[in-house]
Parts: sequence; structure tokens; C-alpha cells
Amino acid sequence: MAKQPHILLVGLMGSGKSSVGRILSQMTGRLFSDTDAMVEAFYRMTIPKIFEELGEDSFRQFEHEMIELALDDQRPGIISTGGGAVARSENRAVIWEKSWVVYLKARPDELITRLKLDGSRPLLQQDDPLGVLKDLYKKRSPHYRNAHWTMDVGDAAPRDAAKAILKEYKKQFGPARIPAR
Ligand code: S3P
Repeated sequence: MAKQPHILLVGLMGSGKSSVGRILSQMTGRLFSDTDAMVEAFYRMTIPKIFEELGEDSFRQFEHEMIELALDDQRPGIISTGGGAVARSENRAVIWEKSWVVYLKARPDELITRLKLDGSRPLLQQDDPLGVLKDLYKKRSPHYRNAHWTMDVGDAAPRDAAKAILKEYKKQFGPARIPAR
């Protein structure tokens, strides 16, 4: 891992990876890469459309490409990933090698109350979205738990979560803020 690694956020849908990532970027001046948004911009298709027309496997391939692209930036940045990024071993290998991985942890029952079930997350387009989340939580937790640091976001506001993450980063790697020129 680099002396000042990327901060890469993992966690289930609704855990606040994008909001916390955006705040971390504002607080540090570092570039923010949201791999879901990168997939949509690069392929000019929404995630639901990719799932519907090309299938989940294609989405996972695109997601892998965007994770690699974000991690390859030599300047340390802030990266938020989709909830399923950790499920693939080829993603885990590069993520853990090239970034300081932070798990935004919340229980499925906490997550379901924050999630807008508006069709933007194809995996939750089911009769029982809480059941799906519970199942994903069980399957993915072993990987999330390998994160370098875990932040309990059950009842934490995104700004407080971001502050706590930066405090820990500073302890381990020095200040994350890019000095003003
Ligand atoms: C997914 C999570 C989504 C998005 C896609 C699949 C997952 O991202 O990548 O719908 O497999 O958990 P968020 O975690 O940002 O919602």
C-alpha cells in the first residue's frame, strides 16, 4: 500500500458510501471517484438498464474496470464502490493492495429505512427487499469485515462518519488534506 493510500469505502447498499465519500473529498480536497457513477457515465447507461439489457455479469465486468481505473490514479483519492464490489476476488485483490479500506457498517434493518426503493437498485426489485439485504449481509460480511477499519454508521450522520474516518487516517498515514498551493 502507498504511504498515503486511497481511502476506499465498502458496505451494503444504503450505508452512505457515496455521501460520506463526497464529504471526505470536500474535507480533503482529494478527487472523489464513485465507481457506480463512473460505470453509468462511461457506458452511458443507468445501472438498472445495464442489468436489464446486458445482465448482472456485464455490470460486474464494467464495475471491475472502473475500480481498477480509480485505483490506478497515482494521487491518493477517495473511492466509493458499489455494495457488491467485495464479492469478486479480482476486485478484492486490487482493492486491498492499493487502498485503505473502510467498511461503513449498518444492519439490514437500519439500511432498509434509508434506502429509497425507487428502482435505482435492481437487486432490491423484489417482493422482500429486506430479505434480500439480509441475505447479502450474510454473504458479504466476511469480506467487509476484512476492511482495514470499520465505521459503525448505524446512527452516525455522514459528516460525523467522515470526520471519524479522517481522524483515523491521520493517525495511520498523516494528514489527508491536500495542502493549499
Ligand atoms: C449493488 C449495489 C449498488 C450497485 C448495484 C449493485 C450490490 O451500489 O453497484 O446496484 O450488488 O450491492 P450501492 O451500494 O452504491 O447502492
